[in-house]
Amino acid sequence: MTTTTSSTGPLLQVEDLCIDVTLVGSKKTVPAVRNVSFQVGAGEVVGLVGESGSGKSLTLRTILGILPSGVRATSGRILFEGVDLLQASKRTVNRLRGTGITMIFQEPMTSLNPIAKVGEQIVDAARAKHSWSKNEAAEHALSLARHMGIPDPENTLSLYPHELSGGLRQRVMIAAALACQPKLILCDEPTTALDVTIQAQIIRLLVQLKNELGMSMLYVTHDLAVVAQLCQRVEVMYAGSIVESGSVSDVFQHPDHPYTQGLARATPDVDAVVDHLTGIRGNAPTLGNWPAGCAFHPRCDYASDECQSGNFALRETQPGRASACIHIDQLHNDVATQGRS
Ligand SMILES: Nc1ncnc2c1ncn2[C@@H]1O[C@H](COP(=O)(O)OP(=O)(O)O)[C@@H](O)[C@H]1O
Ligand SMILES: [Mg+2]
Repeated sequence: MTTTTSSTGPLLQVEDLCIDVTLVGSKKTVPAVRNVSFQVGAGEVVGLVGESGSGKSLTLRTILGILPSGVRATSGRILFEGVDLLQASKRTVNRLRGTGITMIFQEPMTSLNPIAKVGEQIVDAARAKHSWSKNEAAEHALSLARHMGIPDPENTLSLYPHELSGGLRQRVMIAAALACQPKLILCDEPTTALDVTIQAQIIRLLVQLKNELGMSMLYVTHDLAVVAQLCQRVEVMYAGSIVESGSVSDVFQHPDHPYTQGLARATPDVDAVVDHLTGIRGNAPTLGNWPAGCAFHPRCDYASDECQSGNFALRETQPGRASACIHIDQLHNDVATQGRS
C-alpha cells in the first residue's frame, strides 16, 4: 500500500480548489469554482448546497478525477487520507475510484452498463475491492439488494437496467456503489429525478446505511430539506464559492449569510427562524458574468458599497462556523427584531 493514512486528519480535505471552464462559444476561459475549501470527517455526512450552476457537480467530479473536456482544476489540493488526488498517479486514483471513493449520480445510466445484468454489476463492484469468489460476491449482492429494499431480489438482479423502473435502477446503482464498501460516497443529486415517495424511501435508506456502515458522504443537492434529514454539516455554495459553512442545525436555524437565509426561506420544510424574505430575488449570475466583490450583492437586501469590490473569503464566525458576509451583525439584529415583533 502506498497510501499514507493519517489517523487524526479528516478523510477528505479540499483546500483552495479552483476550477476553470473554457466556454464553448467564445473559447474564453473563466472561473467556475473559486478557492473552495472544506472537509469531510470519517463517518460524517456533509451537504453541498446551492442553486444550479454554482459549481457543485464540478467540485465532485474533480474529487473523483472525472472532469469533462474544457474543464480544469487550476490550483488547490484534494487530500484523501492524506494523498493529494490532484497530484497522484493515474494508478493511485484508479485504485481509489471504486474502492475508497465512489459516486452516485442523478441519472443511474451514467454508471450502469446497459448490456450487463444488474446483479452482475453489483457482483463486479464487490469483487473490485474484495478477493471474493463469484458465489461469495453474489451472496453479498443479494444481501445488499435486500438491504436496499429491492423487491424479489433473486429475480430483479437477473434483469437488465432497461427492464427496471427508474426508482429500482437508482437503488441498483446505489447498491453497486456500496458493494465495494467505500469510505467516501459522493452523491450528486441522486434522488432529484425521482418521484417524491421513492425519493423519501431512498433518503431513509441512505440514513439507515450511513448509521449501519459508518461511511462518509458528500451530498450535493439544491434541496435543503434533504440536507436537514441526512447531513451533519453543510457548505453553502454561490457562484463558485462557499459563502457559509457549519453544522446543519446552526446554519439553517441561524443563517450567517443572506443567501442561506433566502434559501432557507424558500424551503418550507426547513425550520428557519427567519421569515421576512420570500425566497431570493433575481437570478444567479451566469459563468463569466460574476459581479465583483461579493457575487451575491446585486440580489442582497443587506448590500452596501463595501460589498461591490474586494475579496469575500470565508471567515470563521464561531468555532466550526464560517461566513463570507460582512453584514452578519445587521442580519442577526434584523432576525432578533423580527422575532420580538
Ligand atoms: N463541460 C463543461 N463545459 C463548459 N461549462 C461547463 C461544463 N460543465 C459545467 N459547466 C458550467 O460550469 C458551471 C458549474 O457547473 P456545475 O458544477 O455542473 O453546477 P451545479 O452542479 O452546481 O449545478 C455551470 O455554469 C456550468 O454550465
Ligand atoms: Mg450539478
